[in-house]
Amino acid sequence: MQREQPLPDVSAAEGTGQAPWTERVAVAADSSNRETGRALAARLGLVFLDAELDRAANIAFILRVGADGLALCSGAGRFGPISSEFATGRLRHRHQFGGGVGQSIARAVGIRQDTQLHIADLTAGLGADAFVLAGLGARVSMIERHPVIAMLLEDGLRRGRELAQSTAITDALSRMQLIHGEAMEWLRDGSTAERPDVVYLDPMFPERGKSAQVRKEMQALQQIVGGDDDADSLLEPALTMAGYRVVVKRPRQAPPLAHRLPTFTVAGRSTRFDVYALRRMPSGP
Ligand SMILES: C[S@@+](CC[C@H](N)C(=O)[O-])C[C@H]1O[C@@H](n2cnc3c(N)ncnc32)[C@H](O)[C@@H]1O
Repeated sequence: MQREQPLPDVSAAEGTGQAPWTERVAVAADSSNRETGRALAARLGLVFLDAELDRAANIAFILRVGADGLALCSGAGRFGPISSEFATGRLRHRHQFGGGVGQSIARAVGIRQDTQLHIADLTAGLGADAFVLAGLGARVSMIERHPVIAMLLEDGLRRGRELAQSTAITDALSRMQLIHGEAMEWLRDGSTAERPDVVYLDPMFPERGKSAQVRKEMQALQQIVGGDDDADSLLEPALTMAGYRVVVKRPRQAPPLAHRLPTFTVAGRSTRFDVYALRRMPSGP
């Protein structure tokens, strides 16, 4: 939480019919992190829970500052803590054993052993996909507009850099840069920004009906972030900005973004990657 950047207005992105996220999230901190917690609450315009245990039950989400970093918790214990983790757990394991450039995401983006791509991940979320791509040698500019998610990601990057026990993870994290903000603005600023080789998009897919089986974590994030209902509008400017291709991650059965058919598709287990190819990929560094 070092850099002070203006927080984007995400009210238009919510569309959930619920109270604004600022009324459903509060900040709490353990006794040794109270000042950090208070500063975070002030920055995000959120309530700071002084007597955390008394008031927690009435709040849907608690952004908790503790010795282990920042985590988004359920006020009613409906889901486990959500945080951005790179040096431990699932992502570290995937980094070590995940299948390298043969993975669907790497094939979709066009990463090979001998290429060093600059990827703009315009919907960074908690940074999982960006970390996979950076772990395969890409430089990734990550844009995230939601203040809560951006804070979780920023904290994950900081802790990852502190805790990483392998040079490969440290190197991957050093190739990841977080930009708090709205992707449309970043795309509009294209004349000054460095043009990325690949633009990567993974907007929330609006879940409709009761049959949708989204994991609890994803449900919780969706309740805060909303459905990214404006995602279609990213495709056209992304196609203008990308050097070689735009890659869109979609649930397997979902229609393509903006109903625009991709050049080709790479199927993953539960998702697919729609690839909009613009030019032949470079063949070497
Ligand atoms: C499904 S999540 C991305 C998950 C991510 N690929 C990962 O691996 O962790 C979508 C994220 O994109 C962000 N987002 C959606 N539209 C955006 C936009 N126009 N600008 C910046 N961030 C955006 C949302 O706030 C949300 O956090």
